[in-house]
Amino acid sequence: MISAFRQVVLLCTLFVFVNSAKLPSYLKPCSKSDPNLNKCAIKHAKEGLPVLAKGDRAYHIPSLIPLHIPEVRIQSGENLKIIIKNAVITGLDKADIQDMSIDLPNRKFWLKANIDYVNLVSDYEIDGRILILPIKGNGPANITYVGGVYTYSFDFDLVDKNGKQHIKTKNNKLEYTVQRAYYQLDNLFGGDKALGDQMNSFLNENWQDVDKDLGPSLTEAISQIIQSIVTAVFTKVPFDYIFEP
Ligand SMILES: *[C@@H]1O[C@H](CO)[C@@H](O)[C@H](O)[C@H]1NC(C)=O
Repeated sequence: MISAFRQVVLLCTLFVFVNSAKLPSYLKPCSKSDPNLNKCAIKHAKEGLPVLAKGDRAYHIPSLIPLHIPEVRIQSGENLKIIIKNAVITGLDKADIQDMSIDLPNRKFWLKANIDYVNLVSDYEIDGRILILPIKGNGPANITYVGGVYTYSFDFDLVDKNGKQHIKTKNNKLEYTVQRAYYQLDNLFGGDKALGDQMNSFLNENWQDVDKDLGPSLTEAISQIIQSIVTAVFTKVPFDYIFEP
């Protein structure tokens, strides 16, 4: 979360310096008076995603094939600390956008996408309690979400920059449901294989409760990363170039 926060700070700094730009060519704007604005946005987002997923330095959009995240810190309640380092996340580029709602008068955005298979491979450090059990260790992690339905939403303000209005998001929120989550944390408990195997079995047998426990702090961290990417684009591209008059 700290590195996501640094990114946000960095982007706020960039906000002052970058000149406005059009949307990248693979993301077509919609007309804000289009009576089927949502349809237009879904169509253009679907068309743009395969190209956007490759990343675009000019817009500070990282590659999603795969997405690399240097570090995420998760504090789940009082009792559990997790650090995820050198994360490689695959599957995000296969997001299948289901629905989108762009409410310009009320300045609300909402998107729903299915992602059949998301896999995270990383280094981890964990210390605390998961459900009721003490857990501690560090090593390689492998977490997979199968059959996920993800919704991402935010409210926004319009802020002036060099005479142009820009979208500034707030209340970013990521939520999801999955059909199944798989956890593999190697080298738990100082490498005690029996204890580590037991814990991994426990996590996978109780994946729904584990997911419920970890979900909110995990999505909070990830939504900050998404927010930093979205902010980069909105910082560069004025509102009128996204939703044409
Ligand atoms: C991660 O786990 C999945 C199954 O849950 C497996 O298919 C995959 O090969 C594993 N990846 C690594 C790098 O261990």
